[in-house]
Amino acid sequence: MSNITTPGARSAGARAGAPIPSAPAGTQPAFRADVAKDDYLAFCEELYRICGVDLLQYKRQQMERRIRTWTARRGTPDLALYCPRLAVDPEELDAFLDRVTINVSEMWRHPEQIGTVEKQLLPQLAAEGPVRIWSAGCSYGAEAYTLATICCAVIPNARVTIKGTDLDRRMVQRAREGVFTPEDVRQAPKDMINRFFEPAPRNGWKAKPEVKRLLSFENGDLLRMRIQSESQDLVFCRNTVIYFNQEARDALHERLVDSLRPGGYLVVGTSERVTNAREAGLSSPFPFIYRKL
Ligand SMILES: C[S@@+](CC[C@H](N)C(=O)[O-])C[C@H]1O[C@@H](n2cnc3c(N)ncnc32)[C@H](O)[C@@H]1O
Repeated sequence: MSNITTPGARSAGARAGAPIPSAPAGTQPAFRADVAKDDYLAFCEELYRICGVDLLQYKRQQMERRIRTWTARRGTPDLALYCPRLAVDPEELDAFLDRVTINVSEMWRHPEQIGTVEKQLLPQLAAEGPVRIWSAGCSYGAEAYTLATICCAVIPNARVTIKGTDLDRRMVQRAREGVFTPEDVRQAPKDMINRFFEPAPRNGWKAKPEVKRLLSFENGDLLRMRIQSESQDLVFCRNTVIYFNQEARDALHERLVDSLRPGGYLVVGTSERVTNAREAGLSSPFPFIYRKL
């Protein structure tokens, strides 16, 4: 098991709840800035207490802007007043979490990278034994279903399991259903969709049982959940850490590398990289794809 249980990221917010320093005379604007800063940190601490979602792992500027725009729109711009509302109103909490967790995804996202996985990685991994795949930050499952579809097509006889994990319960629920919109399949090869999906209402597509049987989904916080060392052959973590601050991003990459067996692969988003990959024991055989040595 991984011995990493708590990301350093939370310590970044340790100032929440600290007394607000009084401003020297004539420095009123700076004082106001401090008040704004502290009410955001206090909000993050309180939200974590309410539902276990840690906003301090995200880049502050972007996240704070999203939250303040949202609370203003909901008619409660004061963060100190909005938090109690979240504590007592599950629907409001759901709507809020929907707003702050960025769930954008689609099938065959970054198609060249998916092509490398299809042609190079999966045949090689299948030749070595059962293939255990993890979509870490899976949203509503488009990435995991892409991988399952490709496995059905290119390594039909391999023993494949694909797990998806996401912080957002509602996305996990959707992922379990395996239904996608026409926009979701925009980049997907048509023959693959016709072969492994069946038509669903509103021009959508529902995964066939042979695809679904490879998949399972779970709700979890990648930065906190227990992760079993060397339990995965291929880990996808794309477009999840781009919203994290660097500390949280590095902590998550460290955990994901720990979850890989030697020889396993970590696939990251096309604007992402693992800090000090060599020191972390990784080679980089393909763009944005690392291999554990
Ligand atoms: C932009 S989506 C990426 C989906 C997919 N990997 C892709 O590239 O299309 C990012 C997902 O990461 C999830 N996420 C963010 N922080 C997380 C955490 N700490 N633990 C688990 N999931 C997290 C969000 O809920 C969101 O669904």
